Amino acid sequence: MTKAAVRAHTNIALIKYWGKADETLFLPMNSSLSLTLDGLYTDTFVEISDTFTEDQFYLNDVLQSPEETAKISRFLDLFRNKAGITHFIQVKSINHVPTAAGLASSASAFAALAGAMNRATGLNMDLETLSTYARRGSGSATRSLFGGFVEWQKGTSSEDSMAVPVDDASWDIGMVIIAVNKSAKKISSRIGMKQTVETSPFYPAWVASAEEDLLAIKKAIKARDFEKVGQITEHSAMKMHGSMLGAETPIIYFEPDSIKAIHAVRALREQGILCYVTMDAGPNVKVLCRLSEAGKIKEMLREYFSEEQLLISGPGQGIRPLTAQEAAE
Ligand code: ADP
Ligand code: DP6
Ligand code: CO
Repeated sequence: MTKAAVRAHTNIALIKYWGKADETLFLPMNSSLSLTLDGLYTDTFVEISDTFTEDQFYLNDVLQSPEETAKISRFLDLFRNKAGITHFIQVKSINHVPTAAGLASSASAFAALAGAMNRATGLNMDLETLSTYARRGSGSATRSLFGGFVEWQKGTSSEDSMAVPVDDASWDIGMVIIAVNKSAKKISSRIGMKQTVETSPFYPAWVASAEEDLLAIKKAIKARDFEKVGQITEHSAMKMHGSMLGAETPIIYFEPDSIKAIHAVRALREQGILCYVTMDAGPNVKVLCRLSEAGKIKEMLREYFSEEQLLISGPGQGIRPLTAQEAAE
């Protein structure tokens, strides 16, 4: 097969990945755990042909710059080398998620591209092995190959730093996403985490507590203890942002409306509705909640945010090929 089209969903980390031990291989300082989301995804089409004279990368129908294309080419090389292919490749990707806004576009992007290349080259690696390839595009992409709750085990080498499914999340859990600001952030995740690792005195404490939180949340997921899962999730996100505030110069992804959202969620909790916030490298806030209560929570958040800013998402599936009809649309 020289053509393939694959859909991957984004994932939101409950225990965050923040910091690399190896920047070339994308080995993380700590293991992480996420929930794959149904509502936000990327569709990626690849074509390998000996008629192409260069790699081409289109994002949302726009031909990308030589710099953006070079990043993609380096990622494609991992597959070309493994498959013994030298041909150029055309990549066309459509984000059904805001790009670079802290809603994990890099996760669905590289999971979809890895999935499409796995098929187009005929390598057909299993998903755990493929996750070690997705990781080299963006760390968070490691986890998007699988649905539900997924752990990215930091491992000891490039071969075993991989994703492992933890639980299919087929219970009452989901998220309300508060899109505070959908525009691209000024500091990418990559730069933000590097600056934190290199300059924040709080960083070692972040790594130590992430490992503890991971063990605790896996136990809570297994017990389907929603309250515990939520408490650990909110605490992990705040600790990650705390480590950023200690960086020189401090990294602040919060915007005034992010703080407003955090307080709104606290107010909901005071009214007895169990829901918890998490935030990534961007101003947008995700509210972990019972999926059965998401509609009610969204309505209550309408006091502060517009309809367009609020999106409900349930747990999502892992990567899958697009059907011929979907690919044609
Ligand atoms: P996010 O919070 O959206 O994950 P990041 O800073 O981690 O933000 O990553 C954003 C970068 O990911 C973009 O600048 C682009 O280089 C890359 N990216 C996003 N979407 C795609 C896509 N569909 N295909 C390839 N690369 C993508
Ligand atoms: C805060 O995976 O986007 O969303 O590996 O440099 O591409 P790179 O960074 P990326 O970082 C994600 C950081 C995070 C937390 C998480 O998703 O675990
Ligand atoms: Co990202």
